[in-house]
Amino acid sequence: MARRPVPLVLFTFLCLQLLSVQGQNAAHWCATGIKQPHFAHDEGHPPSIDIILAQSPLFANNPTFGRKLGLLNLFHTALVLTQQVPGTSVVRNWTVEFDSTTNVLGAVLPKAITNTGMVWDNDARFCVTDGVLWGEGHWSKSYKVVMRVSAAQARRVFKEFVLPLNTTAHNNKPTYQLWKVESNDKPEKTLIKDITCGDGALWILHWLATAAGAQAHADFEFRSTTITFHADRVEKVNIHNATEWAGVVQQFQDMVTLAGKGTSIPERLDEAWKAFAPVKYVYDSNSGTYFHVIGNRFPFFQVGYELIPLQGPPWSILGSRAVASEEVALLV
Ligand SMILES: *[C@@H]1O[C@H](CO)[C@@H](O)[C@H](O)[C@H]1NC(C)=O
Ligand SMILES: *[C@@H]1O[C@H](CO)[C@@H](O)[C@H](O)[C@H]1NC(C)=O
Ligand SMILES: *[C@@H]1O[C@H](CO)[C@@H](O)[C@H](O)[C@H]1NC(C)=O
Repeated sequence: MARRPVPLVLFTFLCLQLLSVQGQNAAHWCATGIKQPHFAHDEGHPPSIDIILAQSPLFANNPTFGRKLGLLNLFHTALVLTQQVPGTSVVRNWTVEFDSTTNVLGAVLPKAITNTGMVWDNDARFCVTDGVLWGEGHWSKSYKVVMRVSAAQARRVFKEFVLPLNTTAHNNKPTYQLWKVESNDKPEKTLIKDITCGDGALWILHWLATAAGAQAHADFEFRSTTITFHADRVEKVNIHNATEWAGVVQQFQDMVTLAGKGTSIPERLDEAWKAFAPVKYVYDSNSGTYFHVIGNRFPFFQVGYELIPLQGPPWSILGSRAVASEEVALLV
């Protein structure tokens, strides 16, 4: 499988570059977002909406990066919905993204570290925008129709899946989880699941294929970026044990310093080494659990563009659905 170890020096450089990008994007996540696409009726016509799997090198819209991050297997994933309005020549497009509502760094680092805990701001939510975001040419890795659905099916996925999942309270699932942890044995077992931009797209396709009975095109396959640590095992940290908690705090403080403003490059390398070589703790944001990672060895972490089977969220969304339908009623 195409997994690449990323040297720590390069990783540190990336963190630096990320900082400059984050500063520009952070304040206005989903500023031009809409609630959902307004699909034209296609009843009595063949299904009229194409679902396009759209992928681009991460931060390709930023001149600092261009398409370079694609060389490291780092891709952003979104869906573009295109409707050929029946009986007309009108084509309408919408882009659906799933992302951290702060930014990648904000999702990976705590907002604050105290003696008793950490404050996180790592909600992952959907953003729907009109048109093809950044234009079709931006999606240079993939721009491929993977499914065709009717307006009724497309409306349902927003009403019954996207909206309920998107209206959970702040600091509730889904949250962004950049790191994946896998066991060192073969076949590898997932010890901690990642949840990144690709998952939102995958979950929508899965919902359409199962609940709405849509069919993916015969050659459909889904790949997405994964950042994986391998380990012998993970153990839940006892956060009430002062010694253990101090270890967790130390690693996250090293990560904060690594990414912080005003840290010199030699200092950053030193912090990267302390925090990631090897990785000792991972926070699983979706279960709110700190894990002790045991047996993470060189090359410490790998970045892959991996085949992922069609699947929904790793938890039932029934609970959130009940809350959301009340909110929907209030909106009407
Ligand atoms: C999802 O929630 C976020 C954060 O509350 C909001 O900005 C966004 O517009 C919502 N997306 C949809 C599709 O409703
Ligand atoms: C929608 O996308 C298609 C294909 O990229 C393009 O031909 C069309 O002009 C777009 N329509 C609008 C309204 O942006
Ligand atoms: C706290 O954790 C340390 C390190 O894992 C361990 O040696 C110690 O026995 C623990 N203390 C208690 C009271 O569990």
